[in-house]
Amino acid sequence: MYNEIDLDKIDINREPPIEEPARQYHYMAKCREWVRAFEQKNGRRPCFSTQTFGCQMNARDSEKLSGILQLTGFAETTEDEADFVIYNTCTVRENANNKVYGRLGYLHSLKKKNPHMRIALCGCMMQEPGVVEKLKKSYRFVNLVFGTHNIYKFAELLSRSLETDKMIVDVWEEAEQIVEDLPVERKYPFKSGVNIMFGCNNFCSYCIVPYVRGREKSRDPKEIVREVERLAADGVVEIMLLGQNVNSYGKTFDPPVSFARLLQEVEAIEGLSRIRFMTSHPKDLSDELIDVMAQSKKICRHLHLPLQSGSTRILQAMNRYYTKETYLALVEKVRKAMPDLAITTDIIVGFPGETEEDFAETMDVVKKVGFDSAFTFIYSKRTGTPAAKLPEQVPEQVVKERFDRLLTTVQDIAAEKAQQLTGSIQKVLVESVNDHDASLVTGKMDNNATVHLPGSAQLIGRIVTVRLEECRGFYYYGKLAEQP
Ligand code: SAH
Ligand code: SF4
Ligand code: F3S
Repeated sequence: MYNEIDLDKIDINREPPIEEPARQYHYMAKCREWVRAFEQKNGRRPCFSTQTFGCQMNARDSEKLSGILQLTGFAETTEDEADFVIYNTCTVRENANNKVYGRLGYLHSLKKKNPHMRIALCGCMMQEPGVVEKLKKSYRFVNLVFGTHNIYKFAELLSRSLETDKMIVDVWEEAEQIVEDLPVERKYPFKSGVNIMFGCNNFCSYCIVPYVRGREKSRDPKEIVREVERLAADGVVEIMLLGQNVNSYGKTFDPPVSFARLLQEVEAIEGLSRIRFMTSHPKDLSDELIDVMAQSKKICRHLHLPLQSGSTRILQAMNRYYTKETYLALVEKVRKAMPDLAITTDIIVGFPGETEEDFAETMDVVKKVGFDSAFTFIYSKRTGTPAAKLPEQVPEQVVKERFDRLLTTVQDIAAEKAQQLTGSIQKVLVESVNDHDASLVTGKMDNNATVHLPGSAQLIGRIVTVRLEECRGFYYYGKLAEQP
């Protein structure tokens, strides 16, 4: 286990081992040597800063990067002060890429003031064809570029990069293996993401994720349980099981292990109070999973069930493998099993060929289901995906107008739903002191809604009983209903 490994006992003059993760620990020991030399020369520890774009899986990857940097002796700081800045990028929509290029301009200006500053880029955007070429041509000041498949080699890449001023680029086409037992530094002491699978095999026609994250690979259930046990022993009360499509977890094992079965094993772990998961593809949501959720004491009453579109014709073109009717029937089935379940979703507006009638179908589903909240996105053309080649890309103005209509409807419905819980008693996991008012703390209900309540930092990490006093659209003000 990594926190039992003593880097100082590793002989860095020997050939690095071939097997993983031992090889990475060898390089972490080398990085620590570099950190010590830096400290001696400058009278302070080198500092790092990470910026994460994109989804929960990227956030978890960043915790792994931070874990390695901290173990080797780097201290965390802000971007402006950092000697080592790392951007973990996303490329799911074009604007995610634009954001990174924009920020790189700013980093370049910082680097001009601090020539020792090193810049690393990793994550999904690096896996996209053309990006590396563009960086090599126009962003020569970047020191290190790597992708999603070799992130486990970060210590080795960091070590190489610290010893040269040349730009190092290492991006792989495919994932070789899942490497366990690398360090990780959690952002929150009381909650954590846990990867259960990597990659995606669904190839929704608009989506770039399968191209940049590779084929689906499930983690060994024993490793997952071991990680959750360790987290629980370390004070974590809430976990979120992460995968692009958790419902297809374990299908490739012999014999297969279903996601529902995995949930049962995780539920049995002592010390854990809440289990969440993300994301569920509607096509694979099994009756077994619904049963396990309904009977569970720990699985949160929240299901994120991306709809994408309410039009069966568009869903077919999106390669989603369900129809408007089967989606609605699924919602009815889960609601019947769990009447208090919050359902949230993702919706794309302006997929190529989307007509006003198609859009009306989406609005119809939104109204029929009554989502507790929805992430709405304007379709973004991703080169290399099948949808990018489709004719009839919808004019920007039309999409914008539909998007606004959808957003208003989604927000009105969400506010109406939220209002229904005003006055009720809820369990809230307190996560932080309120950003705007230090006399308040902020936490999350079982159904993932946000609550602000009077309290101090001592409550952070505790699950408290709260009366919801007032609803403000999609969040609440509450008061402790019992002394914790
Ligand atoms: N695996 C998850 C989603 C991952 S991406 C799932 O299938 O549910 C998160 C969301 O981004 C998607 O649900 C989709 O709504 C949106 N998205 C993906 N590609 C997009 C694109 N090209 N344009 C706009 N939104 C997109
Ligand atoms: Fe993308 Fe579809 Fe895979 Fe989700 S399931 S990551 S939307 S291809
Ligand atoms: Fe973005 Fe990669 Fe996640 S493209 S949404 S960070 S898997």
